[in-house]
Amino acid sequence: MTGDQVSFTPGRLLPLLTHPSGRAATTCLYRCGNQCAHEAPNTSTNTYFGDVVQAVSRRGAFKAGAVMAAAAGGFAAMNALGGATATAAVPPALAGRGRPVPGTDFTPVPPNRADAVVIPDGWAQNVVIRWGDPVVPGAPEFDIARQTAAAQAKQFGYNNDFVGLVPQDRQGKRFLMVVNHEYTTETQMFPPGQYDPANPTEEQVKIGWAAHGLSVVLVEKQRDGGLSVVPSHYGRRITLDTTFEVRGPAAGSQYLKTSADPTGTKVRGTQNNCSGGVTPWGTVLSGEENFHQYFANSDKVTDPAERARLTRYGIGKGTTTRKWERFDKRWDVPSEPNEVNRFGWVVEIDPNDPDSTPVKHTALGRFKHEAANVKITADGRVAVYSGDDERFEYIYKFVSKGKYKPGTSAHARRHNSALLDEGTLYVAKFTGDSPAGQIDGTGKLPADGEFDGRGEWIPLVSGNKSFVDGFTAEEVYVFTRQAADKAGATKMDRPEDIEPNPVNGRIYAALTNNTDRGAAGKAGVDEANPRVGNKNGHILEWAEDRDDAAATTFSWRLLLVCGDPATADTYFGGFPKDQVSPISCPDNVAFDPYGNLWIATDGNALGTNDGLFSVPVDGPERGQVKQFLTVPIGAETCGPNVTSDFVTVAVQHPGEGGTVTNPQSHWPDGGSNLPRPAVVSVWRKRR
Ligand code: FEO
Ligand code: CA
Ligand code: CA
Repeated sequence: MTGDQVSFTPGRLLPLLTHPSGRAATTCLYRCGNQCAHEAPNTSTNTYFGDVVQAVSRRGAFKAGAVMAAAAGGFAAMNALGGATATAAVPPALAGRGRPVPGTDFTPVPPNRADAVVIPDGWAQNVVIRWGDPVVPGAPEFDIARQTAAAQAKQFGYNNDFVGLVPQDRQGKRFLMVVNHEYTTETQMFPPGQYDPANPTEEQVKIGWAAHGLSVVLVEKQRDGGLSVVPSHYGRRITLDTTFEVRGPAAGSQYLKTSADPTGTKVRGTQNNCSGGVTPWGTVLSGEENFHQYFANSDKVTDPAERARLTRYGIGKGTTTRKWERFDKRWDVPSEPNEVNRFGWVVEIDPNDPDSTPVKHTALGRFKHEAANVKITADGRVAVYSGDDERFEYIYKFVSKGKYKPGTSAHARRHNSALLDEGTLYVAKFTGDSPAGQIDGTGKLPADGEFDGRGEWIPLVSGNKSFVDGFTAEEVYVFTRQAADKAGATKMDRPEDIEPNPVNGRIYAALTNNTDRGAAGKAGVDEANPRVGNKNGHILEWAEDRDDAAATTFSWRLLLVCGDPATADTYFGGFPKDQVSPISCPDNVAFDPYGNLWIATDGNALGTNDGLFSVPVDGPERGQVKQFLTVPIGAETCGPNVTSDFVTVAVQHPGEGGTVTNPQSHWPDGGSNLPRPAVVSVWRKRR
């Protein structure tokens, strides 16, 4: 990438002020409205199995359940096929030796604080696209000093998160790349003296609207192995001004009607698109996550029921950080009380059809969706897994009523997309199989050697039928968090990405952290969330009974309890801890074609840069975490894709905590240039 670089005199590197999340204060403010500095909105008293009396009394049932699971194809059966059990002793002298694990045969990158993407020896990298680069045909060159909303609406947006690659050929050479732009950091987006956070101009606010949403570009593998953007008619920006069709059972709901849309079926825009998933039918699902921070003055609402709903979703009180409410009343809750209910959905984009109207799928419920990933059930229906990323929130599954039609034709895309409009929405309840007294909050393994147990999917709603007392179906869809409270779901340590493993069929969830776990007045530890003040997060793995994504019961265990392997509170699937890379705050997950899990981190609480890690999940190397790359100072690693010959990651918020006068990073353009969020591809050099 050359040209259109704007540089300013760099200031000295300031110490990064960090929040409990491990991120810089600026990132917390702009990404999630300082969510972790506020009380977690889940103050519900729903039961969770960490309760000592309940857990002990149920223990017999858990063991019976585990036996049933093994017979039905749970972990025990899978391990018989896949290799050693999680607790099998691996002689330290042999561990990590012997056969290289396909897909993970690289020398790990050591922890570091470099202002660079650091990759293993023998690999190469390039920047595929960065903030401001052209996306839509005819987009103007990026000029930060003269940026306009009209230009930004044709250029790559800010803070790239999810990266979906939708294949365009059988050779694996061309893909439609769909990228989420989660949020804006206005203090790093305008030249010195141009942006006053207390008084942004209308044009600056509109640049923010245009920098949100998604980008679609065609990318092609180059002769050397990296990806490059190819100009095409597929180039598309979706922003806060793009019209979305609301579909599913809550379309037209009384809670979705506004003065601009009295039908409750057409929403202007999407925002806070965090992670997502590529569907088997060639579209992209994207989760609207921290939408709460854009809405002002919820404290002026007087109706008690409405207030309770706003509070449960953490909707902003007083003015907002970005002051958008000054330029459009839809951001002012008292003026337009239902606008807030039009965000927090899973949206679907069809990148193959640049003229398609994107969709908000209400059947998947409304919460702070991190992502959405599909698994086909044993009888050919579609299951979608999604986490609600906030402290003490829940894990959800949707199972369609209708059956999937294989293929990616326009007809198959239409048919399969419509499946997401009718089905059953569940929330997860996890039960441990060890006595509660053995889950002491330190991370020490219980006597049976694993944090593990059984789980059930509690139905919340199906079509027009609610299963939650006191809630109509419409209310379950729009106020899903409160319905899940009532149903007794398990409060988790910030559920981020959840994805099915295409090789072993099991499901993997990143629980990124929760420093409030076990704090006074908060939910205590349980076997699925076993550490008090969980700073480093963990990885949860489960097997649906009969390996059927439509099952309503499952077996689960923790694959990783993250952190510094030198500390006693960590666990690496039973693998020797002196032979793994430190890992902290797992966020996005992906699988390579061999079924190895790849984990991107956000907010490394161990003091070094975030990274991308591989970990085998079966065989003797199960738990062998290896750091594949690290991202520049202040950045989080997002959107990994791992193929047999290249890897992509999104580098989000490089230089967080800095400003235009004191940038903390100069990646990717170097020199004294300002940092720019960008997507990177990495490939093995030819030998
Ligand atoms: Fe946007 Fe849950 O990370
Ligand atoms: Ca156990
Ligand atoms: Ca994330």
